[in-house]
Amino acid sequence: MAKEKTLDDLFLDTLKDIYYAERKILKTLPKMQRAAQSDKLKEAFGKHRDETEGQIERLQQVFELLGKPARGKTCDAIEGIVAEGEEIMDEFKGTAALDAGLISSAQAVEHYEMTRYGTLKRWAEELGMKEAADLFAQTLAEEEKTDADLTKLADAGVNERAKGKKAA
Ligand SMILES: [Fe+2]
Ligand SMILES: [Fe+2]
Repeated sequence: MAKEKTLDDLFLDTLKDIYYAERKILKTLPKMQRAAQSDKLKEAFGKHRDETEGQIERLQQVFELLGKPARGKTCDAIEGIVAEGEEIMDEFKGTAALDAGLISSAQAVEHYEMTRYGTLKRWAEELGMKEAADLFAQTLAEEEKTDADLTKLADAGVNERAKGKKAA
């Protein structure tokens, strides 16, 4: 019979998944920052890169609370989302639609993170890990704020510019 697995195992697995994903995101945000045309979008990516460093530290704190080494587990989902973002950077380079495409890619990342942190926060509560739940809640709030800020940038001209010369 297969070894019994419980919520503790799921929790650790998911923690490793998002730890891998955050480190991938930390490497990807500077590329997006360089690629962005608008200064405000560059600034937004830079700000979130710095926040991501803090988020990785929070994850390391949770590993510590569990008494486990901080170790990632390949996250195919983030690999796929980032690969699609790189495709956009490539295929829309130098075009009016690039920044709108970068925002859409970044929002796919934020939403992936939001599902992970939402689940981890809930599971931490179920497992009586209040400190971990608080750490996840802080990061979740940053991801939600980043997502909302990106929507504001899209609405404040990026989507309009992406329509091309005819819209100008
Ligand atoms: Fe993050
Ligand atoms: Fe994020």
